[in-house]
Amino acid sequence: MGFIADSLNRIQPSATIAVSTKARQLKAAGRDIISLSAGEPDFDTPENVKAAAIQALAAGKTKYTDVDGIPELKAAIQRKFARENGLDYKPSQISVGTGGKQVIYNALLATLNPGDEVVLPAPCWVSYADIVMLAGARPVFAETRLEDGYKLKPEVLEAAITPKTKWLIFNSPSNPTGAAYTKEQMKMLTDVLLRHEHVWVLSDDIYEHLLYDGLSFATPAAVEPRLFDRTLTMNGLSKAYCMTGWRLGYAGGPEVLISAMRKLQSQSTSNPCSITQWAAVEALDGPQDFIAKNNEKFVERRDLVVAMLNQANGLKCPKPEGAFYVYPSCAGAIGKTSASGKKIATDEDFATALLEDEGVAVVHGAAFASSPAFRVSYATSKEVLEDACRRIQRFCGNLR
Ligand SMILES: Cc1ncc(COP(=O)(O)O)c(C=O)c1O
Repeated sequence: MGFIADSLNRIQPSATIAVSTKARQLKAAGRDIISLSAGEPDFDTPENVKAAAIQALAAGKTKYTDVDGIPELKAAIQRKFARENGLDYKPSQISVGTGGKQVIYNALLATLNPGDEVVLPAPCWVSYADIVMLAGARPVFAETRLEDGYKLKPEVLEAAITPKTKWLIFNSPSNPTGAAYTKEQMKMLTDVLLRHEHVWVLSDDIYEHLLYDGLSFATPAAVEPRLFDRTLTMNGLSKAYCMTGWRLGYAGGPEVLISAMRKLQSQSTSNPCSITQWAAVEALDGPQDFIAKNNEKFVERRDLVVAMLNQANGLKCPKPEGAFYVYPSCAGAIGKTSASGKKIATDEDFATALLEDEGVAVVHGAAFASSPAFRVSYATSKEVLEDACRRIQRFCGNLR
């Protein structure tokens, strides 16, 4: 308090980063820890992308660039939107930032005033609500239910919208549930938005390519072209291209918003890493076949984890369509006591006791604004997942 700004007191540090850090510390102290908390693929960045970075470095591409992206990358993003989404964005309608997180941050900080509201289908990614609150605006959670596969009902969206609503943030496939909308399911939501012309849509498509069982990806501006002029279609390389550490995200949207985001970025980080930008051109334009290979592994892991968690006492785990997370309910564990005598009153208690008793790190549902549940990331080997799920089964089996 005092010296630190009030705006910082409105927000929390990222819970997923906090759990991952705690797991790393326990491991470093010699504990046998399995962390299922990180939001990143365990696969390596593709070799052609690494080679493009090395080439850029050798060619001296190491200077400041245009604030929101080199023209070559904007052109590659323009091609990507046209090829994969049927969306026609001009380079002046494209913004590139240091990770999808910065792009979302820029969009929200550039548009929100105190008192504005942002509708977030819950459970949702940890950072949306905090960025909204940092901007002085208010997150409004529109609840989804496990029984509906964690998909938002049109009437729930309708009820969440008020004259103060500025944005709906949409994320399919979702972090933390893995739920993904079909075109038809999304159309029911875009129909609601058509009736509310003051509401903009921020579509977080970062898990676009991590979609299973033959499902096709859908994004609001393509499903309902009449929303194109008030939609920011955001994406990034972290997840599908296994490039979390490289920090690159991008978005297409109306010029008025894109130029406001550029202005903000010009006074914070300036351009994203020049070398990463050249690697990103190769990632988007180069071969894409590794994605399907990685997805085969993700499907096997998902099926393993869903089956094993559903055998654990008190857990209920729906089978998600995409991303690399499952979001089981732990309602059956609440009110019980763990083998080591810890009372489980909340999902945070569940996650803490699980980490202490069995050395498995998961992220509690409260961090994603939906309890009692927890998020498991299955972006790790089947052997590790099997071990972790056996420990979770044992932990749940011992609850009294
Ligand atoms: C839903 C969602 N959006 C955006 C991001 C931001 O990713 P990055 O900043 O690495 O592009 C993440 C990362 O965890 C995410 O899960």
